[in-house]
Amino acid sequence: MKVPSKGFIAIFVTLLWSVILIFSYDFTLTAPVHEKLQRRFPIRPWSHNATAETLIFKDESFKFRILHFPEDLTTLCASGNLTLLVVVQSGPASGDIRKTIRETWAAPDPINALKTNSAKIVFLIGDGESASTELQTEIARNKDVILIDTEDSYKNLVYKTAISLFISHTHCPTPYLLKIDQDVAFNADRFMQQIGSAFWHDQATIYCKVRYVSMPWRNKTSRWYVSESQFDGWFYPRYCAGPAYVLTATAVHSLLDKLPDFEVIKIEDVFFTGIISAAAGVKRVGMQGRFKTEYKALLFTETDCSTPILAVHNLKKEEEIRETWKYLAREC
Ligand SMILES: *[C@@H]1O[C@H](CO)[C@@H](O)[C@H](O)[C@H]1NC(C)=O
Ligand SMILES: *[C@@H]1O[C@H](CO)[C@@H](O)[C@H](O)[C@H]1NC(C)=O
Ligand SMILES: *[C@@H]1O[C@H](CO)[C@@H](O)[C@H](O)[C@H]1NC(C)=O
Repeated sequence: MKVPSKGFIAIFVTLLWSVILIFSYDFTLTAPVHEKLQRRFPIRPWSHNATAETLIFKDESFKFRILHFPEDLTTLCASGNLTLLVVVQSGPASGDIRKTIRETWAAPDPINALKTNSAKIVFLIGDGESASTELQTEIARNKDVILIDTEDSYKNLVYKTAISLFISHTHCPTPYLLKIDQDVAFNADRFMQQIGSAFWHDQATIYCKVRYVSMPWRNKTSRWYVSESQFDGWFYPRYCAGPAYVLTATAVHSLLDKLPDFEVIKIEDVFFTGIISAAAGVKRVGMQGRFKTEYKALLFTETDCSTPILAVHNLKKEEEIRETWKYLAREC
């Protein structure tokens, strides 16, 4: 019998491999990705008339109202053009920080993802019922603020994050949601290049800087005190550093779904990305090199683009945001 030539075997293996690839590939994920998403998570456009919303936890019901939602945002959310919604959790008195952010990492001019409306950055601000005239002017001028009536305080951060998830899920479902604090700079174009084009929205995943080992504080005087009834393990499940993490639409849905099973723990990142995520089967994918916490160290050591950084945290002053953005805005 004649032995097939090497060339024949190579062609045969290549063909077989192509057939396997074609049949294992989920075509429903590519072209109609937004339609599929909208079918799974139908949008409910925000309306002025909306009454209070309620978030139900195991030990309490939390009521809040969205007092203002940018008009263009409703259209954009319904358009199916958005891949990433960025919710910046910001304080009512931080107008200067927001101005700096609008001039740096939220400026549509250098950032293609913002120019083409595949990413949108909005600020979530509390204390809405007593909004100053200055803030009202800012809101009217910039059309990028979602205003809620919740008191804007440290102890309410956990509710503010729950509201960010709620808003994304109910009023603006997108393949990805970035929850981010106002002391972080973020490059939306690099995100789109590295993650955004993959559309893993139907997997429950959070991308972030993962904290692998940390223990609950059992000292009642501590700001981070957690009782045994709230969480009774020795170590928290792995969780995401709070300043910036990206959730897929399915992760957002899974977390909201599980809220009623949990007593509120006022440590926002541990609560959502650790405890509830572990129970809901939401994966936390560590991207330590891409989410940075120490901007000064970074500016002096990182010079190449081998692991392009997405977000840099701990920017307390406006100059720090500008200085970091110069670095983060480079093309990689
Ligand atoms: C708000 O309520 C008023 C009166 O109930 C109604 O006429 C109007 O159409 C409502 N607007 C929206 C956007 O639902
Ligand atoms: C969505 O994208 C389409 C095609 O690029 C464009 O025609 C449309 O104006 C966009 N809609 C919005 C609300 O950005
Ligand atoms: C709890 O913390 C307080 C203040 O931080 C400290 O004075 C106290 O000794 C701590 N108690 C225990 C049991 O560690």
